[in-house]
Amino acid sequence: MKNHLSKNLDLKGKKVLLRLDLNVPMENGAITETSRIEKIIPTIKLLSEKQAKIIILSHIGRPKGKVVKEMSLKPISEKLSLLLKKKVLFNNSPLNGDAKFEIDKINDGSITMLENIRFNKEEESNDMKFAKKISDLGDIYVNDAFSCSHRSHASIDAITKYIPSYFGLQISQEISALEKITNKIEKPVSLVIGGSKISTKFKIINNLIKKFDNAIIVGGMANTILKHTGKNVGKSICERDSGDLVKQIFENSKKYDCEIIIPNDVIVSKSLDGTGKEKDINDVMDDEMILDIGSKTILTIEKIINKSKTVLWNGPAGYFENPNFQNGTKKILELISARTEHENIFSVAGGGETVAAINKFEKSNSFTFISTAGGAFLEYLEGKTLPGIKALNQNV
Ligand code: 3PG
Repeated sequence: MKNHLSKNLDLKGKKVLLRLDLNVPMENGAITETSRIEKIIPTIKLLSEKQAKIIILSHIGRPKGKVVKEMSLKPISEKLSLLLKKKVLFNNSPLNGDAKFEIDKINDGSITMLENIRFNKEEESNDMKFAKKISDLGDIYVNDAFSCSHRSHASIDAITKYIPSYFGLQISQEISALEKITNKIEKPVSLVIGGSKISTKFKIINNLIKKFDNAIIVGGMANTILKHTGKNVGKSICERDSGDLVKQIFENSKKYDCEIIIPNDVIVSKSLDGTGKEKDINDVMDDEMILDIGSKTILTIEKIINKSKTVLWNGPAGYFENPNFQNGTKKILELISARTEHENIFSVAGGGETVAAINKFEKSNSFTFISTAGGAFLEYLEGKTLPGIKALNQNV
């Protein structure tokens, strides 16, 4: 990584264009989850202490280049102001209109948030002229939005061609945690991976199998493997045409000596809002759905986690939204967090549903690192170079 935002930089009076990911979940105009806002507070405080003029760029939702009132960043600016206990100005002037005039008037140490950058159609097409126009608003650019860095968009990628660009505090932490878990691993290392679709996480499993000792596959993804290894999964969520992917996973696990662990007992029900019944994997009926892992599988996972020095977790073990099917996800969380707390293992978790589970079971302080990224986290683990990171490294 090249230029970093650091305590040594002289930023007094400098206009800092700060790209954040404030794409937080909202319901009826209210923010329902704030971890993405909380995580960037240290960066804003550092810039503010250094008397920089902070100009925040972000997006929320996918307005597709049009102004969509419900996707305004105004409520986010108000929330940020509450959390910081400091005024956050909101500037909704068009970027190609009065925005520059307004920004040139702001004071040292102050914070201004611009309106949703995705209201401009040039953002998602990584338009060079648009990127130049945004860069003209500031003196330096800081990307502290790891979770958007898999997007080749103007405020992430093209902008770095026109202005001195820096890695922010949060993105640097994300990259070093993910580098450590993928390249500087302390073994034994285990992957716990769940969620519904094997096709979306197949590349991650295949990439990590090469370096990991164990891959514990749970959730809907495990159903797909069970189905293609001849088990009856009844009405369970499962990808029926992913037989080749499953075959490749097993071939690679042999080649790279990574043990694949799938459930040998499960919790089934006839409906998502039903109660659960524990069964051996060979006893699932045609009209049943697998909605969680069973107690024998949890014991197997416990033994593996207890031997691991590094653990990466992504994706729940079952339909944890219903308390009858939350036990597997909760137990995995407790096992990893106990090992992190008492044995100081290196543990990383990430992904939307994973973070939701961590919050639900109040374990947000018990991992070494929790990534707030969704797609970017997954693409990094697939071994891809993220355009936003590449752009920062190429900036001169
Ligand atoms: C995210 O929530 O993962 C980021 O904000 C990126 O959003 P996008 O998938 O709409 O590009």
